[in-house]
Amino acid sequence: MKKDINSLLNPALKNIATYSVEGGQQAEVKLNQNESPFDVPMWLKEEIVGEFIKEPWNRYPDILPYRGMEAYAKFLGISSDSVMMSNGSNEMLYTIFLASLGPGRKVLIPAPSFSLYAKIALLLQSQIVGVPMLPGLDFDTEAIIRTAHDEAVDFIVISTPNNPTSKSLTFEEVRLIAESSDALVLVDEAYIEFSKQRSILELIDTLPNVIVLRTMSKALALAGIRIGFAIANPVLMGELAKPKIPFSSSRLAEITITKVLENYSLVTYAVSCILKERKRLSAALESIAGVTLFESDTNFLIIRVNNAESVFQSLRSAGILVRNVSGYHLMENCLRFNVGLVEENQRLIEKLSSL
Ligand SMILES: Cc1ncc(COP(=O)(O)O)c(C=O)c1O
Repeated sequence: MKKDINSLLNPALKNIATYSVEGGQQAEVKLNQNESPFDVPMWLKEEIVGEFIKEPWNRYPDILPYRGMEAYAKFLGISSDSVMMSNGSNEMLYTIFLASLGPGRKVLIPAPSFSLYAKIALLLQSQIVGVPMLPGLDFDTEAIIRTAHDEAVDFIVISTPNNPTSKSLTFEEVRLIAESSDALVLVDEAYIEFSKQRSILELIDTLPNVIVLRTMSKALALAGIRIGFAIANPVLMGELAKPKIPFSSSRLAEITITKVLENYSLVTYAVSCILKERKRLSAALESIAGVTLFESDTNFLIIRVNNAESVFQSLRSAGILVRNVSGYHLMENCLRFNVGLVEENQRLIEKLSSL
């Protein structure tokens, strides 16, 4: 008799689930994946595609996407051997975790945080040391530092600003965590462009244990092209490159990031519009009875309602797709949605007011 198929697989698979997005990925008003509501303008897409068709499609791209890495390094004003590009920052998370974790290793993850961190750590049979956020969803910096020390963790992963809480650590707090620990510290800055806080990037040369992760899927509106970057000192970067999937970024991704960075004023303008709308949306939400709003440092907002599941379903029936984040630690009856276009936010406000 054939063996049970599960016994042939990685035993860690029983601890993780297939990634899914509740409510799907289609809606009239889609606010559930923290995307930018502003697509790349047609003239720029045409310029990008115009470059792309001149490329040899039958030839592999570079092993690592050097053109894209150079473009981002130039944009940041740092050396290109400190930068690595990936097919979305999710891919980079796998690379960095593969380079850092394994059976017997300990990783500190604040809770709640981006779900992929725990998933990859479990897959690699590492031990997760969770540090709960404070009841208002702010980071508990002191507990992070203390726990990292007491548990002698090997790796700390922090999303700041954090998904799904929308809260940030200050620059000084990130520095303190990195300086006070011997662990590798991954600082996921997926939402940094929307934040009041300064990026920790400027300390990359003085903090040899820090890796900064960036995505081009949020402020840069490139979720559909899949581009992420890691930045660290060149010695560490050389090691992180070892488990990297070769050829994983396409020629299209390299051309796209180069062109978008050349036109960065589009991004700056989009971010200012989103922040302005966040303010307007926040004020409107605060005036709705039964809605508690958490202050946000990102392009998305968290609200608490009386019955998140029922509000989620009512919004869904009205064509508005948000994320029910109630399952996360400390986030009972919470919903998450990104700032959309003015008219989309208006529909959300009106529907929530009517509930
Ligand atoms: C904190 C955080 N990190 C990383 C990602 C992954 O982004 P991508 O793979 O699109 O670059 C997300 C996406 O939602 C996120 O919220």
